[in-house]
Amino acid sequence: PLVNAKEMLTKAKAGHYAVGQFNINNLEWTKAILLTAEELKSPVILGVSEGAGKYMCGYKTVVGMVTAMIEELGITVPVALHLDHGSYEGAKKCIEAGFSSIMFDGSHYPIDENIAKTKELVGICNDLDLSIEAEVGSIGGEEDGVVGMGECADPEECKMVADLGVTMLAAGIGNIHGVYPENWAGLSFETLDAIQQKTGDMPLVLHGGTGIPDDMIAKAISLGVSKINVNTECQLVFAEATRQYIEAGKDKQGKGFDPRKLLAPGTEAIKAKVKEKMELFGSVGKA
Ligand code: G3H
Ligand code: ZN
Repeated sequence: PLVNAKEMLTKAKAGHYAVGQFNINNLEWTKAILLTAEELKSPVILGVSEGAGKYMCGYKTVVGMVTAMIEELGITVPVALHLDHGSYEGAKKCIEAGFSSIMFDGSHYPIDENIAKTKELVGICNDLDLSIEAEVGSIGGEEDGVVGMGECADPEECKMVADLGVTMLAAGIGNIHGVYPENWAGLSFETLDAIQQKTGDMPLVLHGGTGIPDDMIAKAISLGVSKINVNTECQLVFAEATRQYIEAGKDKQGKGFDPRKLLAPGTEAIKAKVKEKMELFGSVGKA
């Protein structure tokens, strides 16, 4: 069964490692991530953006696929199914559909409105034993239509939102969705440190995990980051492996046109990427 992410993140924060959130798009993505988590005995969070939820025919389809796959693959590690950058309406739909965790991203609202909406959803999630992530400040760039300006979070506002009883808090610290530009200034560890001091035990979430250098990941974890979201990197390796397979003409050899064969190199590439990230984040063997 799916789990509330609270326990895995509390353990991660106390143990100075991070749990990866890997976004899913379809059956291959889901299978690759679940099998890797099981092989490495790592807890894992499957992220579903509203766009990906729509692509997969709706949140109920996602819940059905993920829960059945956990059962039929014999997955024993903790798996949370989490709405990524959810709207207020999207969060309610996911709660209804059976997700075990949601993110309400109210970062584009004025802080009072973000707080009011987050507070209401915290109440609902607590009653149903679901985990909930909130966002303060914003993540730069664009992900599936969610656009952010990338302003660093105000540590005071982070405390106000943490005090609402959210399970985990995403704060803008100079991180950006997608591939980082050449002239990226890097993460603001000063901001992160100030946020962690204000929010104490609260597990902090680092979005935009794609392409952040290893040393910055390590430092972020040392300053209280316990969940790291990775999406674009899996897409890049999937696309590249698929392109190579086709460009090498392998799809024309034997039964290469078989869709299961066409999708296999990309699926293997996602597995390798997820393994690399779980090792980097330190979640291997923590299930
Ligand atoms: O919400 C998802 C993540 O923040 C993913 O960011 O695509 O830059 O890895 P990324
Ligand atoms: Zn994000």
